[in-house]
Amino acid sequence: MELTAGADTRPEAVEEFKNKYGRKAFSSVEAMYDSGEIDAVWIATPNVNHADHTVKAAEHGIHIIVEKPTAVTLEEVDRMIAAADRHKVKLVQGHSKVYGPAIQKIREIVAGGRLGKVIQINSWNSNDWLQRPRLASEVDTSAGGGIVFRQGPHMIDIIRYVGGGMVKSVRAITGRNDKHFDTEGDFTAFLEFDNGCAATAVFNGYGFFDAAELTWGIGEGGKRLPEEATGQHTAGERLKGAVDMEYKYANPRTTEERATRERSAQSFFGITVVACEHGIIRQSPNGIFVYSEKGREEVPCGKDEGRAAELKSLRAAIDENRRPFLDGRWGKATLEVCLAMLQSSKERREIALKHQIPSVDVKEKQEA
Ligand SMILES: NC(=O)c1ccc[n+]([C@@H]2O[C@H](COP(=O)([O-])OP(=O)(O)OC[C@H]3O[C@@H](n4cnc5c(N)ncnc54)[C@H](O)[C@@H]3O)[C@@H](O)[C@H]2O)c1
Repeated sequence: MELTAGADTRPEAVEEFKNKYGRKAFSSVEAMYDSGEIDAVWIATPNVNHADHTVKAAEHGIHIIVEKPTAVTLEEVDRMIAAADRHKVKLVQGHSKVYGPAIQKIREIVAGGRLGKVIQINSWNSNDWLQRPRLASEVDTSAGGGIVFRQGPHMIDIIRYVGGGMVKSVRAITGRNDKHFDTEGDFTAFLEFDNGCAATAVFNGYGFFDAAELTWGIGEGGKRLPEEATGQHTAGERLKGAVDMEYKYANPRTTEERATRERSAQSFFGITVVACEHGIIRQSPNGIFVYSEKGREEVPCGKDEGRAAELKSLRAAIDENRRPFLDGRWGKATLEVCLAMLQSSKERREIALKHQIPSVDVKEKQEA
């Protein structure tokens, strides 16, 4: 695979791309698609643009990896899936924590049945999502902003994948508890799977505490939070609303600045504890811990490949002409859970789901 071109509507981003990568850069996605420079695109534009940019790519015969959430509505995702099917291009759900080797290993053990059936999945995270410089659109729920749309898919992907994919119903409370931001900064959800497994998904993004303190200082992407940064989330002046573009791009995200860029072996998205009939599994610094009647066993996992995993998944789907490991339908099912969380909170009731699909297991993935 070769990086051949990029596109962005901000002139500074176009210049930066040209200087950094020495490749062609376009001021619109359409111009890049028309240029004939690319066979595949990674769509990382704002959430409201995902559907349009995906459908246009498909119409140009360009394969697609799309950032999470797949889109903002289920109707948009249906259009994306239909366009990819019609034009025979692959649509990969990108930027999912499910590609991580530790999550793959947990699912392998759960699906293999060695610990009996899965009974509980409890996932918990806390970070500074709402205290990173955000444009107005990023903190506007109707535009796919706020933490249910922006962080929910990560947690829901992990839970769905480990639990087998088929969530039956959702009850949730989503909160807007920072008066400076009219969008969700927290959620607490209860999910029931069709196999009887119960799951909780709990997230707090107000920036008072980073869950990496509980995971050996290792956070998202395997980045390490140095000891001196511990507890720093509460210190300093807090952001009091959305920022403009000039501020956002001149002030990168605060946690990222504090974290060292060196990746550790594994990536953590908070803590997920998976309980089966005969034992419990959770991530360890180098892989996973399995707790059973034999005591605690650490199973090492391969190094987290970061975004390379999606590229490999796309390549394999093209070469072997098969469905990508995580595709548009998987993304739609995860988005359905996130939308149900918002609806459940608004209507204060349990929401039944209709668009779930099962996890593609590691073995099936290798054989497909
Ligand atoms: N920031 C992250 O690390 C991160 C993490 C996870 C997922 N994402 C996902 O990536 C996407 C972008 O998020 P972000 O945080 O990088 O946002 P961002 O606002 O920093 O970046 C979006 C970029 O798209 C450009 N853009 C806007 N409209 C465009 C258009 N019509 N055509 C071409 N370019 C356009 C913007 O100028 C900007 O450079 C979202 O879907 C988000 O959920 C981002």
